[in-house]
Amino acid sequence: MTAWAELHLHLEGTLEPELIFALAERNDVRLPYADLDDLRSRYDFTDLQSFLDLYYTNMQVLRTEQDFADLTDAYLARAQRAGIKRAEVFFDLQAHTARGVAPEVALGGVHRALDAAEERYGISAGLILTFLRHLPAEEATTAYQQVVDSGVPLLGVGLCSTELGYPTEPFAEVFARARADGLRTVAHAGEEGDASYVRLALDVLGVERVDHGVRAVEDDELIERLIAERMPLTMCPLSNVRLKVVPDLAAHPIVGLLRRGVRVTVNSDDPAYFGGYLDDVVAALREAFALSEAEIAQLARNSIEASFASDVEKARLLGEGPGH
Ligand code: HPA
Ligand code: ZN
Repeated sequence: MTAWAELHLHLEGTLEPELIFALAERNDVRLPYADLDDLRSRYDFTDLQSFLDLYYTNMQVLRTEQDFADLTDAYLARAQRAGIKRAEVFFDLQAHTARGVAPEVALGGVHRALDAAEERYGISAGLILTFLRHLPAEEATTAYQQVVDSGVPLLGVGLCSTELGYPTEPFAEVFARARADGLRTVAHAGEEGDASYVRLALDVLGVERVDHGVRAVEDDELIERLIAERMPLTMCPLSNVRLKVVPDLAAHPIVGLLRRGVRVTVNSDDPAYFGGYLDDVVAALREAFALSEAEIAQLARNSIEASFASDVEKARLLGEGPGH
């Protein structure tokens, strides 16, 4: 079976409605929804912010270390069924500490599940701490220090949440610190912000991958640069449809960019909110674009090559190394 890497996945975005209700009951949290149908009726988004509002509200059911472990484990089990062999997952620590969860509780649960991923699901997993762009950069530094103090290993740092109106520059310092500590760097850019946000992620934050990058298509010179630098774009077509970044799947630039030679990868972003996990996203793309088997294989290969796995592990996942 083709091996896939998922490189753009928010753990909190895998919180399924059923788990929201189960955790609310376990933790005695009062939800502002009458029932599951009432909750599901709110998954009709107008833009990024309308989604983020629900995403942050639903997270309040995550309280204990076990909750974070259960959330993470449920994703890994589903990812295995999607053919994922490598997962580099985002975690919004600040969204939890801001509501009184101790950093070691949140991080401990996530780490426990990720640490067992290889043995339990055959998935090599890494954790990327995503800073919330709508909060002051000093709070990003605090979150980074909390992870360092917890001893939980990090693969990298990223930047997400509301894009428009929140400048990139204040985050340069914490990104530089993470890089100096040997971590990998990514950032959401060009989802609701225009191509200039993608340039800032490259030039100010020095990222090694751009998350989304959809609006880079509005800047030909930038596209040429992305091709020349073999810069990966971790794209999430179903997310972009649901958040109205593009009018429909057929209008999504991922396949056009693939055919132009940009190193695009396909991802699910927040699968509990946007209509499916990685296998569902690939199936939807296949149907909308009549993708060839060679193009699907290229997307899978791109995902492994754009991952932060070691060269030895990449070769193994691509079926080229020993032990295959
Ligand atoms: N964009 C920005 N921030 C996010 C997203 C997204 O799609 N999902 C979770 N946090
Ligand atoms: Zn995202």
